[in-house]
Amino acid sequence: MLERLRVGRSAKSFIAVGLRGVGKTVLLNRVRDLAERAGCKPVFIEAHEQKSLPELLVPSLRELLLELDRLGAVSDQVKRGLRVLRSFMSGVKLRYGEAELSLGVDPEVGTADSGDLEADLPTLFLAVGKAAAARSVVVVILIDELQYLSVRDMSALIMALHRVVQNSLPLMLVAAGLPQVVGLSGRSKSYAERLFDFPPLDALPPEDAIRALELPVEKEGAQFDSDALIEIVRITQGYPYFLQEWGYQTWNIARSNLIKLTDVRAASDLAIKRLDESFFRVRFDRLTPREKDYLRAMAEIGPGPHRSGDIAEILGIRIQNIGPLRSALIHKGMIYSPSHGDTAFTVPLFDEFLRRTIPVWQTPYKKQ
Ligand SMILES: Nc1ncnc2c1ncn2[C@@H]1O[C@H](COP(=O)(O)OP(=O)(O)O)[C@@H](O)[C@H]1O
Ligand SMILES: [Mg+2]
Repeated sequence: MLERLRVGRSAKSFIAVGLRGVGKTVLLNRVRDLAERAGCKPVFIEAHEQKSLPELLVPSLRELLLELDRLGAVSDQVKRGLRVLRSFMSGVKLRYGEAELSLGVDPEVGTADSGDLEADLPTLFLAVGKAAAARSVVVVILIDELQYLSVRDMSALIMALHRVVQNSLPLMLVAAGLPQVVGLSGRSKSYAERLFDFPPLDALPPEDAIRALELPVEKEGAQFDSDALIEIVRITQGYPYFLQEWGYQTWNIARSNLIKLTDVRAASDLAIKRLDESFFRVRFDRLTPREKDYLRAMAEIGPGPHRSGDIAEILGIRIQNIGPLRSALIHKGMIYSPSHGDTAFTVPLFDEFLRRTIPVWQTPYKKQ
């Protein structure tokens, strides 16, 4: 894709979609490395619930443009990129310190400063794309946790990329997010479908999970008993994050070069304890008591996906009244809707964690 852009062809951007712990961030980092090694300019940002897209983008684009500026003789396109960024910043009214603001240029008044992001961001991307083209450089914008963008920001991003593609400029997006990201395109939906692929990332199939465990161990001159491997694959269900954790604990516990089922069993207690204290716990601690009850009600009926009506029934709340709570949980990235009326956890094995943490649970709501 990078090569296609470099020679002035178009390349379809992509958004990797998957649950927590499947390897999205690892993948984006890999793309960044590949881009760097190919002489491209990667710009890596992580979306955030409390931050707008301009807030996240401006510091990185400023750095990028200043770097392009230093890359050779004075370039009109690069200088213009800096001026447009400057006016963009005044349009979206970002508050930065003086030093951060300094771009060494005056704003191009009247360009990208209307304050309407869907108009201003495409203008900014166009200017950045032209600056990159002037330096024969491919820019890769990497965005992790894309689901945290607001519908407005996502829509502006799509329109901005659309503008770049229309002008065959060397700028692309590689992003990753939870499944809710697919529904975020809002009214720019038809553009989004043409602009992006949404490759799914999921748990590894058993043969790949086994290879992920075996290869590093073989390098150290050890091996797994086959029933030990089967047990790890069963417990982890092939999710990369869990494979890593079980592999780590099992390796530390095993005393001989043949790793046995008993080692895995002993490692499981430690692995679960560590996951409960970190991977699961950080997500749980961000929830309100009502949100915890909603998720615990889901866990009551198993891993899911669950019908929203069934969850409402366990909670004893009318389904009409449960919408805002469900939306808040989707926004926080805890659950998503795999299909209309269905609700599922974004964190694999979260139902088991909830039942471990809250073994006995009763709905706090009175039956309505
Ligand atoms: N290709 C990979 N090689 C090695 N480990 C991986 C790979 N992909 C995922 N992992 C493991 O899974 C963990 C979670 O991956 P991460 O990229 O953070 O997931 P996500 O961003 O999808 O939540 C990593 O910390 C690592 O332990
Ligand atoms: Mg991640």
